[in-house]
Amino acid sequence: MVRGKRLVLEISNLRSAYGRIEVLRGISLQVRPNEIVALVGSNGAGKTTLLRALSGVQPAKGEISFLGERIDRLPPHRRVARGLVQSPEGRQIFGSLSVEDNLRLGGYLRKDKAISEDRDRIYDMFPVLKERRQALAGGLSGGQQQMLAIGRALMGKPKLLLLDEPSLGLSPLLVDQIIAAIADLRTKDIAVLLVEQNAVAALGIADRGYVMESGLIVHDGSAAALLADDRVKSAYLGIA
Ligand SMILES: Nc1ncnc2c1ncn2[C@@H]1O[C@H](COP(=O)(O)OP(=O)(O)OP(=O)(O)O)[C@@H](O)[C@H]1O
Ligand SMILES: [Mg+2]
Repeated sequence: MVRGKRLVLEISNLRSAYGRIEVLRGISLQVRPNEIVALVGSNGAGKTTLLRALSGVQPAKGEISFLGERIDRLPPHRRVARGLVQSPEGRQIFGSLSVEDNLRLGGYLRKDKAISEDRDRIYDMFPVLKERRQALAGGLSGGQQQMLAIGRALMGKPKLLLLDEPSLGLSPLLVDQIIAAIADLRTKDIAVLLVEQNAVAALGIADRGYVMESGLIVHDGSAAALLADDRVKSAYLGIA
């Protein structure tokens, strides 16, 4: 196998249920190196459940291969250690800890010495976090907390970053800033699986996209093709 060309993520026939209600009904998708892949779809489609299944915190059946190896039997922390890192919906930062300590926690599984350099790189990416490095995370604005959540996930040295609604509740200006920061991850050798309600913005920076509906993938293709598809536009993008 040509190393540089292997898939970052390959899921095949992934299924998951809450009790007797199946909410992932056989999902297959791929993420290639350096790709940004958008996952869009209406409320309750199963997007968050899919990311949680990939992280290993939601039980699921089916195959998940990461960088060419099966990981579906691994516990969550071992997936993180391999470079599959999620920044969860709702942010879940530690409000009573400082910005800096939150970032440090994101690197807790790492044994290498580059942690402070990586932290400085995150401060370059989000300068407002540097200004507020000693502030308690709970006192940050919504947008700053979202930047911190992404920064903390990046401290885990992801090869694939799973993002769940990073622009949720942010002002348009901050949405643009977060989306631009995500687009820039491509240059840092990080692939991204991006779940977004703001499907137009997500597809605007993505290479490819998948549209989910009731636990199934119903459309997929290049981001440009999805943005131009009339069925996708009217049903999921709010464009007539
Ligand atoms: N803990 C849970 N227990 C039972 N059902 C759940 C649970 N979490 C989610 N569900 C149900 O599973 C389905 C998929 O939910 P999920 O949160 O994955 O969707 P989503 O695509 O992320 O939606 P949204 O766009 O609202 O975030 C929904 O019908 C939801 O009601
Ligand atoms: Mg969700």
